[in-house]
Amino acid sequence: MKKTSCVDFVLTLVVLALSAYIACAYDPGPLQDFCVAIDDPKHLLFVNGKFCKNPELVKAEDFFFRGLNIPRDTNNAVGSNVTLVNVDNLLGLNTLGVSLARIDYAPYGENPPHTHPRSTEILFVADGTLYVGFVSSNQDENRLFTKILYKGDVFVFPIGLIHFQFNIGKYPAVAFAGFGSQNPGTITIANAVFGSDPPINPEVLAKAFMLDKDVVEKLQKKFAP
Ligand SMILES: *[C@@H]1O[C@H](CO)[C@@H](O)[C@H](O)[C@H]1NC(C)=O
Repeated sequence: MKKTSCVDFVLTLVVLALSAYIACAYDPGPLQDFCVAIDDPKHLLFVNGKFCKNPELVKAEDFFFRGLNIPRDTNNAVGSNVTLVNVDNLLGLNTLGVSLARIDYAPYGENPPHTHPRSTEILFVADGTLYVGFVSSNQDENRLFTKILYKGDVFVFPIGLIHFQFNIGKYPAVAFAGFGSQNPGTITIANAVFGSDPPINPEVLAKAFMLDKDVVEKLQKKFAP
């Protein structure tokens, strides 16, 4: 092999390995029956970001969460409230690759545009009427996919894509969402962009959003953490 083609070959290998790694960068499959998360690091095993509780001390309560039937308070600026059941409050979910949320919506309340960097979401409407949608990526020309959902309907938001739900009914609505990650993560677009800590230089945002700098600064004041 010539020297350059050898370098090319190694580079190709590195790129292939990297893309394989990226393609697999979701919650890994568990290597044992369970690995109940525990905060106390003493004498414990470290797997996948959390410590595992000694299996001999694991009990049914570790796999249990109560109260997802209770409506949450939606009296806030957006008129919605998300109750997450993930590895942080249901420790037995650790390494298992799923989680759940309850979302309450005030009349005309919304779950504002956001993304989950680590998971697809499947949403089930338990009550009410929701206008929902997601936007595809730049390569797909940012197409908007929307639907009006009624009680009993199910909709999917693919991993990483910006999506929202808006209660278009006169009554409170409630939905439940399933995730393919123990910790899907949430990036609420407006808060991340205009409410970062410290703030992004307003000139960067003015150019990006084609806004006057003072409009950006006003938004930054509203979303300040
Ligand atoms: C969501 O509801 C809970 C309980 O009703 C409340 O304590 C919490 O402050 C609410 N969160 C928001 C963002 O309104």
